[in-house]
Amino acid sequence: MRKPILAANWKMHKTVAEAVRFAEEFAKALGDEQSVDAVIAPPFHALAAVGPVLAGCSAELSAQNVHPEEKGAFTGEISPGMLADLGCGYTIVGHSERRALFGEDDAFIARKAAALLAHQIRPIVCVGESLEDREANRTLDVVGGQLQGSLAEIPSDRAAEIVVAYEPVWAIGTGRTATPEIAQEVHGFIRERLSARFGPTGAEIRIQYGGSVKPDNIRELMAQADIDGALVGGASLDATSFLQIVTFGRSEGSA
Ligand code: PGA
Repeated sequence: MRKPILAANWKMHKTVAEAVRFAEEFAKALGDEQSVDAVIAPPFHALAAVGPVLAGCSAELSAQNVHPEEKGAFTGEISPGMLADLGCGYTIVGHSERRALFGEDDAFIARKAAALLAHQIRPIVCVGESLEDREANRTLDVVGGQLQGSLAEIPSDRAAEIVVAYEPVWAIGTGRTATPEIAQEVHGFIRERLSARFGPTGAEIRIQYGGSVKPDNIRELMAQADIDGALVGGASLDATSFLQIVTFGRSEGSA
């Protein structure tokens, strides 16, 4: 079965001291819990400080972005090797904010995902439609296209290591969560596409939902057949709130 995976995407929030305080509190409460994968993605500046704290519990460290090249003249960027050096087990790629605000396209995201795997870092590959796409009935076309493009460089024998995050853009940071039924409809479609692309391994790939996930809606989301976890923004900034999401997600999950 697929192990639930709950990930905190802090975006551009927290000082190093605040990040460490959160990690200490979280690590103490989580301990060596093995029935769930908890992942924390601080901004780059806090990775080196948070990593050693999380090493004392079962949670894994993640970055929020990466550049596909190994090294070179890429001012302001960070490479997969550097993230591996910091102990990252996961890294988010293709978040809708990166796609919309920084012009990232599927081909670039595909290179990032493959480069991460080469360093034994699991990519969390984000897809999701805008409100305009949804209202024009283009949701499945858009999500299908993003999946095809962003996963183009994933070798079939490594597919089980990836995580896909479905985040409808209209639900991110808006307080407007997709209903569990709407989310499941798209998750089911993603599962079909993953199985078509990767064969039986498609059934092993975890698909997270993201967009205004909170302690009070995680259970009904996780109860859906193809929702295996969540990528959480706003509600992950508070340790108690994220711990509740991990705890409720774990108990409702299918592992
Ligand atoms: P949100 O963000 O939980 O604040 O809606 C989710 C995300 O963008 O990953």
